[in-house]
Amino acid sequence: MGWSCVVARAVAFILMLGKISAFTSDIFAAGKSDKEILDNLLKNTRYDKRLLPPVDGVLTVNVSVLLLSLASPDESSLKYEVEFLLQQQWYDPRLRYSNQSHYDYLNAIHHHEDIWLPDTYFIMHGDFKDPIIPMHFALRIYRNGTINYLMRRHLILSCQGRLNIFPFDDPLCSFALESISYEQSAITYVWKNDEDTLRKSPSLTTLNAYLIQNQTIPCPIKASWRGNYSCLKVDLIFTRDRAFYFTTVFIPGIILVTSSFITFWLEWNAVPARSMIGVTTMLNFFTTSNGFRSTLPVVSNLTAMNVWDGVCMCFIYASLLEFVCVNYVGRKRPLHNVVYRPGENPVTQPKRESTGAADLVSCTACTGPPGSCTHTANNGGVSEPCFVQVRKKEPPHPIRVAKTIDVIARITFPTAYAVFLIFFFIHYKAFS
Ligand SMILES: *[C@@H]1O[C@H](CO)[C@@H](O)[C@H](O)[C@H]1NC(C)=O
Ligand SMILES: *[C@@H]1O[C@H](CO)[C@@H](O)[C@H](O)[C@H]1NC(C)=O
Ligand SMILES: *[C@@H]1O[C@H](CO)[C@@H](O)[C@H](O)[C@H]1NC(C)=O
Ligand SMILES: *[C@@H]1O[C@H](CO)[C@@H](O)[C@H](O)[C@H]1NC(C)=O
Ligand SMILES: *[C@@H]1O[C@H](CO)[C@@H](O)[C@H](O)[C@H]1NC(C)=O
Repeated sequence: MGWSCVVARAVAFILMLGKISAFTSDIFAAGKSDKEILDNLLKNTRYDKRLLPPVDGVLTVNVSVLLLSLASPDESSLKYEVEFLLQQQWYDPRLRYSNQSHYDYLNAIHHHEDIWLPDTYFIMHGDFKDPIIPMHFALRIYRNGTINYLMRRHLILSCQGRLNIFPFDDPLCSFALESISYEQSAITYVWKNDEDTLRKSPSLTTLNAYLIQNQTIPCPIKASWRGNYSCLKVDLIFTRDRAFYFTTVFIPGIILVTSSFITFWLEWNAVPARSMIGVTTMLNFFTTSNGFRSTLPVVSNLTAMNVWDGVCMCFIYASLLEFVCVNYVGRKRPLHNVVYRPGENPVTQPKRESTGAADLVSCTACTGPPGSCTHTANNGGVSEPCFVQVRKKEPPHPIRVAKTIDVIARITFPTAYAVFLIFFFIHYKAFS
């Protein structure tokens, strides 16, 4: 029993010696598995993950971003979902392994916990789409000590739009990367991307998000509130689908307003038709605009939309008022000595006997031959020269006034509305 114990100890000692000799010999020699190499590299006698990689000067982390997908939940929202691969590359001389090894790189995803990693975090308005776990990442160690750390991130960014010119604004989404604990003197982040632009995946998918411009820059001094920390920024500028807003807001609005103008071409006394047009278009406009508004953020500075809704409602309301006005004027009692022109059918009051007398009285002032005047009085019509004189002297018949108001409205309303449309779309640069 004592002997066996001694033998066991001796065997253990020999094994330990063998291990030590293996460690001191070339641990990277051909024939080693990548796991063995990693185990050896990360032995805590050689490697302390709490220490920054010992490089001369500042540790440089090369960063690049590869866009995978862009999405926005709905047209009018200021939330954009951005999915991308973030690549960080740095140099850790402790992790070099000889180039006799046949591995180009070691896959270290299972040693994630044992390796020094930069403590990069995101500065952004918004949220992470996925829970942090499960995290998707790749971690590779190259022969020359370069470490490539790749991770997938899915952010929901709250972007800045200029709601006062909504829906003609271009929302700007940005996020920044910074180390939480190492100052600029310890870690510097630099963009690896050439030409300061984002790369996009060949299979970039976009849903309802129209990226028009992008840039990758170091954080502007103003924006980096922590001063001494190295920081990188990504700006994404989106635009909104103009065609969508034209088909859902502007063209329906134009159709409703111009429909309300139809009323000017109807008879002045077509009460049911004209009031129906006025009220229907007004109610319809309220419904359409409220329906659209319910999808918008509830903020006070939707100036462009307020101007649009306000002015369109004014036009519809004004054309309804014009009808009320015309109807009121047309129904007024004419003055007793007014002259009816052919076709002027007094609706409100019975034709009085005095009318013919009034004609005769008026016509006595005629310079024309007395025959024309008697003729006029007899057949109820008025001959031209006589009428001109009468009109100069007497106030016009209410029905004629009503019809004139309609004629004026036929020109002024459409013209004013066209002018408004031109100014509106030019001012808000709708077609730029
Ligand atoms: C980082 O990029 C620079 C060039 O921009 C390059 O010289 C350097 O080797 C890169 N570092 C790593 C660790 O890849
Ligand atoms: C890597 O191998 C090449 C030859 O294959 C040699 O010239 C070079 O010095 C080696 N580098 C290191 C760091 O061992
Ligand atoms: C290290 O090796 C990788 C892969 O071979 C290469 O991309 C990188 O530029 C190398 N870095 C240096 C500093 O030589
Ligand atoms: C970023 O903009 C540049 C031009 O400024 C363009 O070449 C590049 O494709 C854009 N990147 C993406 C992801 O759209
Ligand atoms: C930044 O670092 C400098 C010296 O490296 C120091 O004087 C300064 O106070 C630091 N600023 C902040 C905001 O920590």
